[in-house]
Amino acid sequence: MRAIAFKETGGPEVLRPVELPDPQPGRGEVLIQVSYAGVNYGEVQHRLGDFGVPEGETVTGLEVSGTVVESGADVTGLKPGDEVAAYLPDGGGYAEYVLAPAPFVFPLEGLGLDLRTAGAAPLVLTTAYGVLAGAGRIASGDTVLIHAAAGGVGSAAAQLARSLGAAAVYGTVSTQEKAEYARRFGYDDVFLRDGFADAVRDATSGRGVDLVLDPVGGPTRLASFEVLAPFGRVAVYGEAARHPDLTTLPVLPLWKNNRALTGYNIGDLARRAPETLRRHTLAALGEVASGAVCIDITAEYDLADAAKAQRLLEAGENRGKAVLRVRR
Ligand SMILES: NC(=O)c1ccc[n+]([C@@H]2O[C@H](COP(=O)([O-])OP(=O)(O)OC[C@H]3O[C@@H](n4cnc5c(N)ncnc54)[C@H](OP(=O)(O)O)[C@@H]3O)[C@@H](O)[C@H]2O)c1
Repeated sequence: MRAIAFKETGGPEVLRPVELPDPQPGRGEVLIQVSYAGVNYGEVQHRLGDFGVPEGETVTGLEVSGTVVESGADVTGLKPGDEVAAYLPDGGGYAEYVLAPAPFVFPLEGLGLDLRTAGAAPLVLTTAYGVLAGAGRIASGDTVLIHAAAGGVGSAAAQLARSLGAAAVYGTVSTQEKAEYARRFGYDDVFLRDGFADAVRDATSGRGVDLVLDPVGGPTRLASFEVLAPFGRVAVYGEAARHPDLTTLPVLPLWKNNRALTGYNIGDLARRAPETLRRHTLAALGEVASGAVCIDITAEYDLADAAKAQRLLEAGENRGKAVLRVRR
């Protein structure tokens, strides 16, 4: 099969076209012929080596849509020919065929999702839902602030926050152009990240917000604590700015100021709480099916152009979602 793989970590140029053997499904696995693969920041981090050193040809790609070819033993409810979306905890999506664990494979029938949208959905939607509802414990009437508001997870999270009862949703982005783009997702306001704390205080009449979604880190994370209302939470789920982690974050300001820090990791959930992850995905897919949440695909590339797609994402020049078209 055709795939895009890397053997050593590095810049986008380490992504190369390769021919690999077609995978065979084992127990509990589903073989999918891939139609579309979403492009995600986590895949940039995979290629950069944030998740460890690759052993041999490594295929990244955390979410796909496609058609079931064959199922391994103990898989029920899926048959050859079913169109599906799948989250891939072990990657492999930048390829013509991929194996997915059955609990993370979702038939599209009845969801009203086309294959292109479905390829951009399972990872971002599940993450957005899990950060809001799981880690963030969002409650009806909460005020929410979302960093990287114009990106894949951010744009989904803004809409899901409304569905989950948020009274107000604010966002931050790096440029004015992105702020204008992000407004289509229903934000009450979108601020430039530089100086966002003052803007949030002004917008909330000094009260602050109940929940901050932070995939950026560094000074953005520190400033986020300063805009929390009492019992507010900062939900951390990424490190896009690639600052060293805040391992020295002091505990004192948490209890002195009624603040909380919480974290989200989809890979950990896949290993330790797959049923929770599946429930989150189904709930979020339902919001797309009902029209409450829209996934805005702004760029489509051929599989062979995966490096180009990742280069733009790594430079922060993306907005909404990009997909790779795999099936010709
Ligand atoms: N923990 C989990 O389980 C999990 C799962 C999925 C995704 N994530 C995380 O969620 C975040 C969003 O993922 P995504 O795939 O939807 O990406 P994305 O938001 O579409 O793109 C990444 C965004 O990060 C922002 N950013 C901030 N500092 C940056 C920097 N120094 N360089 C590049 N970008 C920077 C950029 O937005 P601005 O231009 O607005 O700054 C950029 O658009 C990522 O941090 C990812 O690692 C975590």
